[in-house]
Amino acid sequence: MKILIAASEAFPFCKTGGLADVAGALAQVFSRAEDAEVVLFLPRYRNVGGGAFSLKAAGGSFLIPVGSRVETATMSRVQWGKVAVYFIENSKYFDRPGMYRSAAGDYEDNDERFVFFSRAVLEGAKFIGFKPDVIHCHDWQTGLVPAYLRTLYRLDSFYAKTASVFTIHNIAYQGMFPKETLQKAGFSWLDFTPEKLEFYGGLNFMKSGLVFADLVTTVSPTYASEIQYRPEFGHGLEGVLKHRTSDLFGILNGIDEEIWDPSTDTFLERGYELKSFQRGKAAAKKALQKELGLEENKDLILAGVVSRLDQQKGLDTLLKAGPDFLEKMQFVVLGAGDPGLSDAFAALAAANPKRVAFRAGFDEELAHRIYGGSDIFVMPSRFEPCGLSQMIAMRYGALPVVTRTGGLKDTVFYNGEPKDSNGFAIDNSDEGQLRSVLGHIVSLYGWRENWNMMVKNAMRGDYSWGKSAEAYIKLFSIAAQRRQL
Ligand code: ADP
Ligand code: GLC
Repeated sequence: MKILIAASEAFPFCKTGGLADVAGALAQVFSRAEDAEVVLFLPRYRNVGGGAFSLKAAGGSFLIPVGSRVETATMSRVQWGKVAVYFIENSKYFDRPGMYRSAAGDYEDNDERFVFFSRAVLEGAKFIGFKPDVIHCHDWQTGLVPAYLRTLYRLDSFYAKTASVFTIHNIAYQGMFPKETLQKAGFSWLDFTPEKLEFYGGLNFMKSGLVFADLVTTVSPTYASEIQYRPEFGHGLEGVLKHRTSDLFGILNGIDEEIWDPSTDTFLERGYELKSFQRGKAAAKKALQKELGLEENKDLILAGVVSRLDQQKGLDTLLKAGPDFLEKMQFVVLGAGDPGLSDAFAALAAANPKRVAFRAGFDEELAHRIYGGSDIFVMPSRFEPCGLSQMIAMRYGALPVVTRTGGLKDTVFYNGEPKDSNGFAIDNSDEGQLRSVLGHIVSLYGWRENWNMMVKNAMRGDYSWGKSAEAYIKLFSIAAQRRQL
């Protein structure tokens, strides 16, 4: 099967969050499936290339209509294991400091940037002669691809048998633009109807993906249900989703078990596995306390956070509840995003330098050391389509403290019985509930036997892509078969 993955980010090339981890991991796991041929298309942002990857020009250039203009696309390529990665280049659109935004906010031409990218993917695949059985699209940035296949490219023989599968990673970001964007995208006004592209008078890229893809998936079973049946989760698209309920599947994400492996992690002081976790984690904790200038004390509970700073993640709740526990706990927060949250964590750290450390920005290596050195990992999300961080934390023996939502609910089990639990859970991102569970954690931490049992449960979990990758491949076959008819 020929699989084309179109995404706006993929690790290790460009990343702002879990979408990148998932797009990258899926490309690799699909490429190992029998008879699979995988190409991955990404935008060539500034800073892509260099390092371990030397990109080669893919030769030639092609023209992409954007409104009444034409823009030029070129491509570069790198072979990444069995995956061929193609980067769509256009310096006006992608050679910028950020991927989606500057400090001032989202780039104003994000509609054009991803119209351009989506069409360039379809033209690019033709250019290299890769006729996909299925195009797997991720989030709003590639939501127009399924729409193009069924409108502008409907009669294009190259794509006559190509199916599309659209995966929702986060329905809170939809790519909603005014109706003028329809012209930039080149669609016909005849398709600007509520059944097709129109959404509250504008063009919604995610809706386009949901309507036109052969099959739709999202990243956990619980989120699949939340977005259809609970308006506060569906963000206005629950009707569209319900319409497609028989074509919508929740497939739980996995994590890359090679990148996230405490036994081989070179960013840690020393590796550890299940058998040696007590010594390994103690060493990682001590090193982390030292690195961040915290009190080096093994008896303090070290609570880690590695997160986008966004209201989704519920960290304002931690800012309220956390300070009550500074006698027994330390907090280490690594995060980038909302300046208000960033300032608040920086102030808390400045006032309590031995107990709280805050690092602003994106830091892959420090993230590894936080997962390794933490006793608990705090993730009180208001909603969480899947969440990878809690799974990484569990693999590193840091017990997650989560809300019962989305993928958190599907991966973290807490019923008060340590032998059946691998973390802690509260119902909502609520200050009182968080306080109460942190209080419980303080008392449980002294019961080493119970604590260690939970850590072992967490570390033993299966967070691999195995089953989920199979589920995707099965859906790809179903989608492709539908196109053969
Ligand atoms: P989301 O995609 O909503 O941000 P996930 O839990 O799915 O949340 O994935 C987050 C990924 O991004 C994890 O791999 C996490 O370690 C990483 N990450 C988030 N913030 C940072 C940061 N500031 N520095 C390094 N890695 C980060
Ligand atoms: C999104 C979600 C996160 C999910 C990730 C990968 O960023 O916020 O919950 O794990 O995508 O699917």
